[in-house]
Amino acid sequence: MSGSKPLIATLRGQSQDIPPIWLMRQAGRYLPEYRALRSKATSFLDFCYNPAMAAEVTLQPIRRYHFDAAILFSDILVVPDAMGQTVSFETGHGPRLDPIETPEAVDRLNSFDLGKLDPVFETIDRVKSALPADVALIGFCGAPWTVASYMIAGQGTPDQAPARLFAFRHPQAFERLIERLIDASVSYLVRQIDAGVEAVQIFDSWAGVLPANEFASWSSGPIARIVAALKQQRPQTPVIAFVRGADAQLPHLTRTLGAEAYGLDTALDPVWAVAQTSPSTVLQGNLDPLALVAGGAALDREIDYILGAFAGRPHIFNLGHGILQQTPIEHVERLLARVRASRS
Ligand code: CP3
Repeated sequence: MSGSKPLIATLRGQSQDIPPIWLMRQAGRYLPEYRALRSKATSFLDFCYNPAMAAEVTLQPIRRYHFDAAILFSDILVVPDAMGQTVSFETGHGPRLDPIETPEAVDRLNSFDLGKLDPVFETIDRVKSALPADVALIGFCGAPWTVASYMIAGQGTPDQAPARLFAFRHPQAFERLIERLIDASVSYLVRQIDAGVEAVQIFDSWAGVLPANEFASWSSGPIARIVAALKQQRPQTPVIAFVRGADAQLPHLTRTLGAEAYGLDTALDPVWAVAQTSPSTVLQGNLDPLALVAGGAALDREIDYILGAFAGRPHIFNLGHGILQQTPIEHVERLLARVRASRS
């Protein structure tokens, strides 16, 4: 069944005449139907933990655009929530967590309570029964470094300086935190797979702020451990690694992380990425979210450049980072029409 889904076929290494397409953050505030439902939930976390609402929001972009994949509607910060850290989301300000400021605070975290995430697994079940047969469901988690950076700073920052300082000052406590996040991520993803997701994406949105040695210790090393554990426990499920800001390390990552596919961020030149990786490497990306906001000739030119760069390669069309709130929905329609007309 999964074999007839273009996204899954591509993740198995088969290049398609027309690449499958989905967009990071495709369920979100640029959609009026999202804003309407979101206004009925008391808080963003309640929204994520309400299986009826979360399933509906997961399906909204599929109904509107028939993307080749749905991505589970949830957030990477449900993992610290399930470790007992206080997590909330303030409109206009993003996430707020009770910051981890000392080694002792790492050790005070609860053990990861997978049961708290039962609503997420129920959401997966609901989405699966409503999804069109050719659309795949993607599950996800944040990579340990990105999740830890929010746990330590307690909020979004431009450079994740609080987490980088903590890692330099308290390397052992930081390593304990990363170890706990590796274990939690593996059990969370295994449970998502058992509930029905057909591929998983690991988001390391903040990998790009790390110097090389720290990158190996806190970003790529932990992701490789998660992938290896998944390959042991659920070998049939493809993994997409989105290591944002990996930059020149991308070719090395594609040889060492063990994932089935690699997401390219906006800054990477796809022509370079194709030349630097093996022809069998599945790549995902990487339209600039701002080109999608701009629309018009600039959008068409960027789409064509990406399609040209990846022609003949197994490629999943996506953005180079999440869709922006101010994106006009007609521009998404234009993108889909252009990608899907690309080989006819
Ligand atoms: O992609 C999807 O459509 C699925 C859902 C999804 C959300 N967050 C929903 C969300 C996914 C995959 C994420 C991942 C996520 N969350 C990441 C990694 C990807 C990336 O964008 O870098 C990160 C770093 C987070 C943490 C997070 N959640 C932040 C920084 C914010 C605030 C910024 C913002 O866009 O508002 C959130 C909130 C959030 N997560 C929203 C959505 C739709 C907006 C909240 C709202 O509707 O009020």
